[in-house]
Amino acid sequence: MLVIFGASGDLTARKLVPALFKLYRAGELPQNFVVLGVSRSDLTDGAFRKRVVLDSPHLSDENDNGASDEQIKGFAKRFFYEDVGSSYDSDYQQLRNRIEDLNDMFNTGGNIIYYLSTPPTLYETIVKNLANADLNTQNNGWKHIIVEKPFGYSLKTAKELNRGLQRFFDESQIYRIDHYLGKETVQNLLVTRFANSIFEPLWNRIYIHHIEITNAESVGVEKRGGYYDKSGALRDMFQNHLLQIVSLVVMEPPIGDAPEEIRNEKVKALKSLRIMRDEETLKNNTIRAQYVASEIDGKKIKGYREEEGVAPNSTTETYAAVKFFVDNWRWHGVPFYVRTAKRMPTKVTEVVIHFNTPPHQIFKDSGIRGKDNKLIIRIQPDEGILIKFGVKVPGQGFKVERANLDFYYSCLAETRVMQAYERLLLDAMQGDATLYARADEVEAAWEFVDPILDYWQNGKNVRMYGYAAGVWGPENADDLIEGPGNWRNPGE
Ligand code: BG6
Repeated sequence: MLVIFGASGDLTARKLVPALFKLYRAGELPQNFVVLGVSRSDLTDGAFRKRVVLDSPHLSDENDNGASDEQIKGFAKRFFYEDVGSSYDSDYQQLRNRIEDLNDMFNTGGNIIYYLSTPPTLYETIVKNLANADLNTQNNGWKHIIVEKPFGYSLKTAKELNRGLQRFFDESQIYRIDHYLGKETVQNLLVTRFANSIFEPLWNRIYIHHIEITNAESVGVEKRGGYYDKSGALRDMFQNHLLQIVSLVVMEPPIGDAPEEIRNEKVKALKSLRIMRDEETLKNNTIRAQYVASEIDGKKIKGYREEEGVAPNSTTETYAAVKFFVDNWRWHGVPFYVRTAKRMPTKVTEVVIHFNTPPHQIFKDSGIRGKDNKLIIRIQPDEGILIKFGVKVPGQGFKVERANLDFYYSCLAETRVMQAYERLLLDAMQGDATLYARADEVEAAWEFVDPILDYWQNGKNVRMYGYAAGVWGPENADDLIEGPGNWRNPGE
């Protein structure tokens, strides 16, 4: 059984239910699967079913994909609803009775996932009340909790939250979701690195010049100004999604694919990021910016400070770029450049491995510059892997031109690619926590991010750059890159 707290919120209708429906259609859900939505709204089972399934705009493309009305109605019958009062802080006895009834009705064996999708301030209240009603014990079926982001607001609050959850649930029951880990191409980082012998020997300071990770979105803050203004790009994307990608690029080979083996290596990787402590280092290695009012193709685009829910004098960043080093044997001296932003020219996430120049240039007039060997891992869109290398131009002499070896995931057409939430929900049902963040992982990521946040908030004369919508951020961001190069802007 999946019990969703915050079930009348956006995430349930937009992400969770469509993911469940895809799994349902693919026959991947257990026969006795049932959903109990819980929230503060006064809804009946029928009204809840209508809202998240029957009348949901988020399932309409499933209809276009051949889902029949029968299928949708059959799916809706597995949805139930319970109201827990205005603050989630009530006696959960009634909830317990409801859960027991549904357990009997659907023969679930008492296996339950509690999905916390409420505002984070309510997480601890909910787990405490679940425990008080004895809904956390595993002597009659397993009990897992999935915790949505943001996981904490700082290192201190993340630690408090970890402790709060661990008072009532064992760490092995806690699944901290990061939907980037559910993306096939993010998981494929592990396979690319550790299932091949051609990349790993080169994956170190001797052959790699620098690594760049770009996460760009063309949208602004949309309707989430109120949330975003208290968060910003560093908290919203960098601390979680991007540092997860970093950990997979940086980590050492695990001894196997067991969840704890992989997670142990990821924690080690995150702990080896060099934390920037003094103002000078922070000033030289971080850049923040906000999008300003601008025009694209004659269409006016609001500046960030004019967005609904955003303070007119806000100092929250919508662009963050950070340069850092990794203090371990493998990565000594290799700069990492990571940036994330809203209102960029396009939506794209990619990892670029820039290899060193050959030690001796034989083809001096070849026209190819050093560092032209690149491995580009496209996380989204056009998921795939691109290798750039030099080939000889036919004809006299040794003119070298750049060629591409390009693999697209879409070539594996016969395989159904699961969406991130499908994969993660299924994993949590099967008790596989590999793609969920462990407590120490989340804390190690905050440990790195905290001093940057602190500097941006309290440092002396910290610049806030502006950039127009539809450009690749402030020009000054190129100054972060050592040497003559710039950021690689996909599509340019
Ligand atoms: C979310 C952030 O975690 O990720 C959003 O809160 C962002 O601000 C979203 O838009 C991006 O996810 P994706 O999968 O579209 O890259």
